[in-house]
Amino acid sequence: MLKEAASTTRDSTVNVKQLFDLTGRVAIVTGGSIGLGRQMAEGLAEMGADLVLCARKKERCHQAAEELQQLGVKAIALGCDVKNPDSIQEMVEATLSQFGRIDVLINNAGISWGAPVEEMRLEDWNKVIETNLTGTFLCAQAVGKVMIRQGRAENSAGKIINIASVAGLGGAPAELPAIGYHASKGGVISFTKDLACKWASHNIQVNAIAPGWFPTHMSNRVLEHHEELFLSHIPLRRFGNEHDLKGAAVFLASAASNYVTGHVLVVDGGQSAW
Ligand SMILES: NC(=O)c1ccc[n+]([C@@H]2O[C@H](COP(=O)([O-])OP(=O)(O)OC[C@H]3O[C@@H](n4cnc5c(N)ncnc54)[C@H](OP(=O)(O)O)[C@@H]3O)[C@@H](O)[C@H]2O)c1
Repeated sequence: MLKEAASTTRDSTVNVKQLFDLTGRVAIVTGGSIGLGRQMAEGLAEMGADLVLCARKKERCHQAAEELQQLGVKAIALGCDVKNPDSIQEMVEATLSQFGRIDVLINNAGISWGAPVEEMRLEDWNKVIETNLTGTFLCAQAVGKVMIRQGRAENSAGKIINIASVAGLGGAPAELPAIGYHASKGGVISFTKDLACKWASHNIQVNAIAPGWFPTHMSNRVLEHHEELFLSHIPLRRFGNEHDLKGAAVFLASAASNYVTGHVLVVDGGQSAW
């Protein structure tokens, strides 16, 4: 066994550029139409992956898919609500009929709801949990079944990347009243670790990315109100930009991370390092 491992490390037929190459891989990005999902989809496309972008508003996915096609890859747009198991199953079947396989799933679709804990309505709490946590479970379950069935050589049957948040690592001051969001992202982190253990036997790597603050449709209003306060808590003294998540997504989607599972990769400018 040790002899085998030693000989693997000397394998000169695989170089590091090949490990990161995604040519011919098929990746689904939920919420891939805008924001961080769009950015990670672009990163994967730049490394050669074919993309399925899905969200509730299909038109925005279409526009993003057309832009990604300019990079020379195939990209399709599908309507999908991650709260709805039937809608997810349709999305998975449409992906298989178009591409015949699924190699990468990025569970990125997410929402937030702001209200003080004492006033948070159950329906708003439920909406956030159902989208961010239950949606992650439902998509992983539907796509994971395909990955288990299809199998794959080269030490990976598939990659599942769940988008958590630094909000899932701890609490926040009262000026940031989004307890359902924090709870959902903490759940995504535990879900990631448990699923990584459960599906290791299938050779599916399951990891999470925990972004810090990135200006997007979701975060813009909060960032405008608290810009100085938030920046003072980020050692690198800036918010994430339109490229800062690409490397993490490509790493976790590629063979470069075949021995990484159950990990939470924090991309936050040092915010959680204080
Ligand atoms: N921005 C940040 O600072 C930040 C920090 C940490 C983590 N995150 C996480 O990163 C992810 C993306 O956030 P973002 O900032 O890019 O937000 P965004 O710009 O608001 O994008 C959210 C995406 O999710 C989709 N979506 C929402 N509900 C959905 C549903 N039920 N079914 C399918 N798609 C749905 C949206 O499209 P439709 O509305 O068309 O469905 C959109 O494509 C989220 O999970 C978020 O929690 C963001």
